[in-house]
Amino acid sequence: MGPTDFNGTLTAASEKEVDVLNGHIESGLSGLSHSTVYINSLPTPLLLYKSVNRITVTSVVVQNLDPRQVTKSESSVSPIGFPMEHHQWSVQLYNGIAMPILGLGTTHNGGYNHESVVYALKDCGYRLVDTAKRYGTEAFIKEAILDSGVPREDIFLTSKLWPADYGQAKVLPAFQGSLERLGTDYLDLYLLHWPEVPTGIPDRRRCLDETWRALELLVESGKCRAIGVSNFLEHHLDSLIENASIIPHVNQCEFHPYQNPLSLRHYCQELGIQFEGYCPLAKGRILDDPVVVQVSQKNGKTPAQVLLRWSIQNGVVTIPKSTKLSRVRENFEVLSPKYELDHEDMIALNNLRFTHRTLKVVDLSRMRQTIDNKLADGYKLKMSKNVFPKSVHSVSKPIE
Ligand SMILES: NC(=O)c1ccc[n+]([C@@H]2O[C@H](COP(=O)([O-])OP(=O)(O)OC[C@H]3O[C@@H](n4cnc5c(N)ncnc54)[C@H](OP(=O)(O)O)[C@@H]3O)[C@@H](O)[C@H]2O)c1
Repeated sequence: MGPTDFNGTLTAASEKEVDVLNGHIESGLSGLSHSTVYINSLPTPLLLYKSVNRITVTSVVVQNLDPRQVTKSESSVSPIGFPMEHHQWSVQLYNGIAMPILGLGTTHNGGYNHESVVYALKDCGYRLVDTAKRYGTEAFIKEAILDSGVPREDIFLTSKLWPADYGQAKVLPAFQGSLERLGTDYLDLYLLHWPEVPTGIPDRRRCLDETWRALELLVESGKCRAIGVSNFLEHHLDSLIENASIIPHVNQCEFHPYQNPLSLRHYCQELGIQFEGYCPLAKGRILDDPVVVQVSQKNGKTPAQVLLRWSIQNGVVTIPKSTKLSRVRENFEVLSPKYELDHEDMIALNNLRFTHRTLKVVDLSRMRQTIDNKLADGYKLKMSKNVFPKSVHSVSKPIE
């Protein structure tokens, strides 16, 4: 019996003193990334021991919640050559679902390349794909998943509800549209894209509450395994949670060393909400930062790899995007243990927030304007010459 087959109490780990790091303790058990581990009766994502450095573990209970999370691969090495247990690195959402800590972004901004998504899934071992109705890439991703040959149930698929589709009556049709375009009958994670509603909606708070309730019903009906939000600050979370019956499982926000919202991250941690970081490379704008370059030279890694590894070592799920195969691979390699940054590197990168904390590559002050514009989903694809969906890729011609 392998560790992921285990359900029950591990007596060997009882009455053991363990370290507390940043309010959390590690289970100390390997190979259990697809299970819920309860330590002293608390699910591990909710463990918070802020004022102590060590605690005594009196009980450890392991529960396998969802067989879809147990990877079927027979190989013990990832397709690009490092141990599978690292290839499968994941965090656990507070409902027990495992979410890969590194995935592939697929925004319409900067183009889309069918081959790089297929390569990510098939040849590298990515198992998380992040998309959104707004990106206009959902139908492309369906094709890429099919062409990769990776079973749907091995992939953690995220999509997002655009604010124009907020409101009780609109959520289900929008969700069904995403399912159809993606060629699936469930999502692993569905996010409210932004905490704002279109102009003209008389009661913003009510609209968001009703929308969130509709997402809760998707979980209750088994159509979504987890639900969450994106770009939500503390006050947005407070307001949503007041009338919610499910606390968001995830909050996806901009995250890189120049945009490191520590108080929001702590707030999410207290609520058991997994923090997921978008634009981990700041769209390429901080790759030449002197500290990033110095850490990359010291470790013999690229600046992009340093930034991704920094996210992962902060416990933040990260979803870099690249339309280039070599970079897709370069970004995935950071899951190898060889890429570990030491304490000194982490402190140097963490400290960048004091000098550059205001740099945001996604301008949320224009959120309302963007929601109200009548541009079609995926409109940025039409502005890029770097678009190669499957339909045109075979003739190697960019989309017009
Ligand atoms: N929830 C939200 O509101 C929200 C907002 C923004 C983004 N997101 C999600 O987060 C994902 C990631 O964010 P992002 O795509 O905006 O930005 P990003 O991942 O920080 O950066 C992507 C840019 O970096 C380049 N790049 C990728 N890997 C590289 C490497 N190893 N070395 C050098 N350059 C590299 C890419 O160019 P090439 O393609 O030429 O390689 C692209 O221009 C998105 O794709 C999307 O899924 C969510």
